Amino acid sequence: MQRTKLLIVDDLRENLQALSKIIEQDDREIYSALSGNEALALLLEHDFALAILDVMMPDMNGFELAELMRGAEKTRHIPIVFVSAGGKELNYAFKGYETGAVDFLHKPLDIAAVKSKVNVFVSLHQQRVKVKQQVEALEQSQQELHATQLELQRALKMRDDFMSLVAHELRTPLNTLHLETQVRRLRLQRDGTTAFTPDYLHAMVERDSRQIQSMIRLINDMVDVSRATTGTLSIRTGTVNLAQLVTRIVGDFSQQAQVAGCCLVLDAIPDVVGNWDEFRVEQILVNLITNGLRYGGGKPIRIGFSLTDGYVDIHVQDQGAGIPETEQQRIFEKFERLGNNHVKEGLGMGLYIARQLAEAHGGNLSVGNTPGAGACFTLRLPLAVEQEIKNYSAR
Ligand SMILES: Nc1ncnc2c1ncn2[C@@H]1O[C@H](COP(=O)(O)OP(=O)(O)O)[C@@H](O)[C@H]1O
Ligand SMILES: [Mg+2]
Repeated sequence: MQRTKLLIVDDLRENLQALSKIIEQDDREIYSALSGNEALALLLEHDFALAILDVMMPDMNGFELAELMRGAEKTRHIPIVFVSAGGKELNYAFKGYETGAVDFLHKPLDIAAVKSKVNVFVSLHQQRVKVKQQVEALEQSQQELHATQLELQRALKMRDDFMSLVAHELRTPLNTLHLETQVRRLRLQRDGTTAFTPDYLHAMVERDSRQIQSMIRLINDMVDVSRATTGTLSIRTGTVNLAQLVTRIVGDFSQQAQVAGCCLVLDAIPDVVGNWDEFRVEQILVNLITNGLRYGGGKPIRIGFSLTDGYVDIHVQDQGAGIPETEQQRIFEKFERLGNNHVKEGLGMGLYIARQLAEAHGGNLSVGNTPGAGACFTLRLPLAVEQEIKNYSAR
């Protein structure tokens, strides 16, 4: 515990020394002042548990000093003991007497009385400090409890929201399929197989397959999230050529991008290979490009590359609203979305899975905003070891 500070004020140095001798103890720090003004300077600087003031001093007497102390917020609550030579009737001269924390000592000083009086004030002060610390600690833990409670409520709400979103996402295509099969059965019963032209059959199979695919994707994502959560999301690596992989993905997307009225701009791809899980890297990039199509406001999405020591960085940059800096960590957590009302958001699993997959490769996934130019996600993947050596020797 911090030492208790005491202030003694007397215009005679001998008196200060004598008083200091009587009241000194290891747990106390004693400050002496030879005048009211000196005392005021000390009072402003320190927090005192007690001030012992000589009443009779030139310039500013003890009562005047006490009056000034009562007038300032910082010193108002410091208990005061006056030391007076006069008779006891003088005791009532100080108007602040009624405020309680005022006491008197008389000259010549009775050593035992001085000691016990000071002890009382010091232990009162120490108790007050202790209580204050306890109250502060209590307030602190209460705040922490409150924060935890809010966090818990948020997590619960997120889980509930997620459940209802999943139910909805699965029910919509399932309902459609269910209805269609019923219609088909009716037509079969009525007209037999002639009810369906080859063109109709083709279109039907395509549509069904798309709907089933999207449900499978959703369920696969849920499986990935649960694997990532339990730490069992694993990758199977092999040699992957970056240019071949990216060209194929962008090719697969071109139709979808056209439908979305948006174009993919592909920078020159460096000729590098990695020891990666091809399907998983594809999954990450597909996620980033899908997000760009979805949240990029239909403007072009650029895919760029850069090489740093032993790594390739793949940048997927859109020209949408971007992601506020305060949200740039959160969106990588599972089920987290910006909560943007202008676009239909998904279930918040994509970036969580993508980052886990990037880390499983020994790489990472991060996001930054290019000022005025939307979000820019960067997937960093380690190059194959031979590649690393080739790069170094080429320098
Ligand atoms: N390119 C982007 N621009 C703006 N916001 C984005 C972008 N990518 C992702 N987000 C925000 O991050 C959230 C989480 O993304 P993600 O994990 O892929 O989940 P989902 O797309 O299924 O909602 C999205 O809901 C969206 O609010
Ligand atoms: Mg997404």
